[in-house]
Amino acid sequence: MTLYPQLIMDALATVTYAGTKKNLVESGMVADTPAVSAPQQEGQPWKVKVVLEFPRDTDPFLKSTVKAAEAAIKYHCGKDVEVTIETEFKTAPRPEVGQMLPGVKNIIAVSSGKGGVGKSTVSANLAIALARLGYKVGLLDTDIFGPSMPKMFNVEDERPYAIKKDGRDLIVPVEKYGVKLLSIGFFVSPTTATLWRGGMATSALKQLIADADWGELDYFILDTPPGTSDIHLTLLQTLPITGAVIVSTPQQVALADARKGIDMYRNDKVNVPILGLIENMAWFTPAELPENRYYIFGKEGCKQLAEEMQVPLLAQIPLVQSICDNGDAGTPAALNNDSATGLAFINLAQAVVTVVNRRNKEQPKTKIVGKD
Ligand SMILES: Nc1ncnc2c1ncn2[C@@H]1O[C@H](COP(=O)(O)OP(=O)(O)O)[C@@H](O)[C@H]1O
Ligand SMILES: [Mg+2]
Repeated sequence: MTLYPQLIMDALATVTYAGTKKNLVESGMVADTPAVSAPQQEGQPWKVKVVLEFPRDTDPFLKSTVKAAEAAIKYHCGKDVEVTIETEFKTAPRPEVGQMLPGVKNIIAVSSGKGGVGKSTVSANLAIALARLGYKVGLLDTDIFGPSMPKMFNVEDERPYAIKKDGRDLIVPVEKYGVKLLSIGFFVSPTTATLWRGGMATSALKQLIADADWGELDYFILDTPPGTSDIHLTLLQTLPITGAVIVSTPQQVALADARKGIDMYRNDKVNVPILGLIENMAWFTPAELPENRYYIFGKEGCKQLAEEMQVPLLAQIPLVQSICDNGDAGTPAALNNDSATGLAFINLAQAVVTVVNRRNKEQPKTKIVGKD
């Protein structure tokens, strides 16, 4: 007796896979050419190894199919043949750029030129305020090297798990305050991330976008790093960003950097609409003198920039100690709309809804950079 791979294939072609009601060969489940090895010595058996590929590891027909394949090989090739059947599982590929996040209606990048002006504070509070208005909201902390969302949402110890969905392993975002949240801070310590090379950061970012179960969202908020970085480029090349909101303080250095941020989005290769400016730390108000306003970073700098750039000024958020304390405590101000600051963020969220609706009516969908 001599065995050769085609004989094994013929045997496998007699086995029907209940999942497709076709035989294993027609179903494309025989992953490689079967391996056949002749006995080394008289009296030893022929050995056959087959790899079968199933759609998923929970396939209900897996066991019965493997058994039937083994029986068919023995029936066709001799009952003494030693048969090994390995199983593999198809994992569906990541959706292509342009096909990601099919359930997400609006993607908003929160940007600034300068660091420390309050992007993360605005992102967290905007996300919570939108959720409190009844919208489905996701928030992605894209500041890979300085993630702040786990702390701001008081979920630093959370470790998101993965689920199997449509043949893919998807990360399940953490849910807090009605917001679905992911941050690289859940997966690596900030010190580890700062040692990464650029490519590692961008591939981690893509994973958080494309390999996560974001589901249906009205608003997907992207908290971005300061300036115009590789991370911004990756975002622009990965997602059709509906619009950007630019956060600045009224200070001249911050405004100059905000202008650069606006220019990046308005670049004719980018064309992401600027939804508006947010003036953060617009004035200082001490808790014991709530009527007093001290313009410590200058007055109305963002208002002037908004006029110059012809974009709406969406909100002026005062510098108050409670915003900082609430952020550090993991209970952002927007959770409490009895407070003046909480109300300011609810009003901001309403303003964002209005400008996004207008933008969607008046302008075409944003094109992903580098994709025609
Ligand atoms: N309006 C505000 N009033 C008081 N503190 C604020 C305000 N906005 C931001 N902060 C504080 O300033 C610091 C920097 O803000 P953050 O949102 O992390 O800025 P960015 O993300 O732009 O670097 C944080 O400690 C934050 O709590
Ligand atoms: Mg930040």
